[in-house]
Amino acid sequence: MGLLLLLHVLLVAVVARAPATEAWGKEGHYMTCKIAENFLTEEASTAVKDLLPGWAGGDLAETCSWADTQRFRYKWSSPLHFADSEGGCKFDYARDCHNRQGETNMCVVGAINNYTAALKDSSSPCEQQSHHSFLDPSRSSLTRCTANQPTTTLLSAVDPTESLMFLAHFVGDVHQPLHCGNADDLGGNTIIVHWYRRKSNLHHVWDVNVIETAMKDFYNNDMGTMIKAIQLNITEEWSNEEKQWETCRTRTKTCADKYADESAKLACKAYEGVEQDSTLEDDYFFSALPVVQKRIAQGGVRLAAILNKIFSGNRRLQSS
Ligand SMILES: *[C@@H]1O[C@H](CO)[C@@H](O)[C@H](O)[C@H]1NC(C)=O
Ligand SMILES: *[C@@H]1O[C@H](CO)[C@@H](O)[C@H](O)[C@H]1NC(C)=O
Repeated sequence: MGLLLLLHVLLVAVVARAPATEAWGKEGHYMTCKIAENFLTEEASTAVKDLLPGWAGGDLAETCSWADTQRFRYKWSSPLHFADSEGGCKFDYARDCHNRQGETNMCVVGAINNYTAALKDSSSPCEQQSHHSFLDPSRSSLTRCTANQPTTTLLSAVDPTESLMFLAHFVGDVHQPLHCGNADDLGGNTIIVHWYRRKSNLHHVWDVNVIETAMKDFYNNDMGTMIKAIQLNITEEWSNEEKQWETCRTRTKTCADKYADESAKLACKAYEGVEQDSTLEDDYFFSALPVVQKRIAQGGVRLAAILNKIFSGNRRLQSS
């Protein structure tokens, strides 16, 4: 007990210090998932609810920061929260999607494809299996699919509840520009700045500070109000673009590499004029906030599109 407590205190201390382990803060992830909920088909919404853990109280958004709490339990998952690049304002999967050991696919884009495939596998009847192994073609030979039994593959052996919670989190992360920042400065984590009068770093500004300041200044510290404002923009201001956000022509993967490339471009702008010890205030805030709000909107719409694709078609197949 004493030792456990000590370990706990140490862990908390480490977590509190670890710079590279942030994601959109709780708010960013919650809002992304709340918006996604509005765009789910009935079929997908039911399938998602069936997979949620009891503690979620039937609400996907409650689980969308779960992945951040698993980085110590699942050490390998740490690099899956981002896709920093070697620069050039561009994300290049072959060049950039790897962990520090150089293992390929170990970045947020690989993870989105991974958990999309895993969920598809675990939700599909046997006959439908053909698309699940784009990360590792050798995995398809591990499919053991007999007559009417659900299939067992390496991927579908992954707990589908965890796959869902990872997926929902990572689709949020890939839309946070500084999650696709420069590898050199760990996505802005090593760039210490002042956010108004408080000490922060550029990564944290984009994860948390912009949202917090907006909540305080414009939304009465009520997340529901901020979500409604973003939602209203999706149906009015951005209604023409919204269909394009969803468009994804590849049949075998998600379009997460495209989302990472968009983020890399936005990250480039986010770095402009920022140096060690810069003070960022109103000017920076007012140019960052519209970007943050739009990325949350896009993340939500696209998460819903991915989930709709995963969980649609099953019924068609099963009833035929
Ligand atoms: C895919 O998911 C499995 C199970 O959670 C995990 O062990 C593996 O590291 C993941 N790979 C990627 C690229 O996300
Ligand atoms: C709504 O859209 C406008 C125009 O793109 C943008 O400036 C504003 O920040 C958006 N507001 C929200 C809440 O998304």
